[in-house]
Amino acid sequence: MAINIETRKPELANRTGGLSGPAIKPIAIKLVWEAAKAIQIPIIGMGGIYSSEDALEFIIAGASAVAVGTASFTDPSTVVRVIEEMERWMAAKGIGSVAELKGTVQA
Ligand SMILES: Cc1cc2nc3c(=O)[nH]c(=O)nc-3n(C[C@H](O)[C@H](O)[C@H](O)COP(=O)(O)O)c2cc1C
Repeated sequence: MAINIETRKPELANRTGGLSGPAIKPIAIKLVWEAAKAIQIPIIGMGGIYSSEDALEFIIAGASAVAVGTASFTDPSTVVRVIEEMERWMAAKGIGSVAELKGTVQA
């Protein structure tokens, strides 16, 4: 929520809104990690992914796949760049699939 101090009205037409982007990434990763320990169904990790490093964190925390939202607004090619960077990183480490990485966090 944000409030205009002159009009004392909420800045958002709906009064309150959702929070997305980098600010929520640590919370989202923690929740993926906790969910992956509690349930055995595939998890799509999302929240503040801008780079391949961000995406890889979610997968290592336990996500089977990831999604990109806010970053696509500032750069619509983000998804393509993230995929290409992930492929390069995984190839350099000899990792053949996302499934190999999933849930491998040492915690
Ligand atoms: C403009 C916008 C609209 C969204 N609409 C929905 C929605 O209708 N349903 C939903 O579950 N999440 C919605 N979200 C939340 C996203 O699915 C996502 O969980 C959140 O934005 C965090 O990911 P991000 O940081 O990559 O954007 C929306 C997010 C944005 C920015």
